[in-house]
Amino acid sequence: LAKIEVDLTAIPEGKNLALKWRGKPLVIRHRTAAEIEEANSVDVPSLRDPETDADRASVPEYLVMIGVCTHLGCIPVGEAGDYGGWFCPCHGSHYDISGRIRKGPAPLNMEVPPYEFIEDGAKVVV
Ligand code: FES
Repeated sequence: LAKIEVDLTAIPEGKNLALKWRGKPLVIRHRTAAEIEEANSVDVPSLRDPETDADRASVPEYLVMIGVCTHLGCIPVGEAGDYGGWFCPCHGSHYDISGRIRKGPAPLNMEVPPYEFIEDGAKVVV
């Protein structure tokens, strides 16, 4: 399957980039220092799908994930919800700034696809 290369320098801090990848919506967020701190301040064992932020974002500035709700597959809205991340309007799932499910019916965190950084972190290959 085809890989894509995304220029990370084109994503301003505090913004999401949405694109299509293998027919799915891929989201890359260039997170702010405050967002990274927030993502790391969560009590991981208390989460429904316990994953540390480092498990999900190997370079904390960039969260790369498939923007599909793990409940029934709607596309959550960015910069929304009670946890400052994403909100799925279909049945009310709230995801945090790491894409982890925090409230609502979704069972799992949004999926992080395999990816790698290249060119000294200027680009990501997904
Ligand atoms: Fe997202 Fe149901 S599909 S909450």
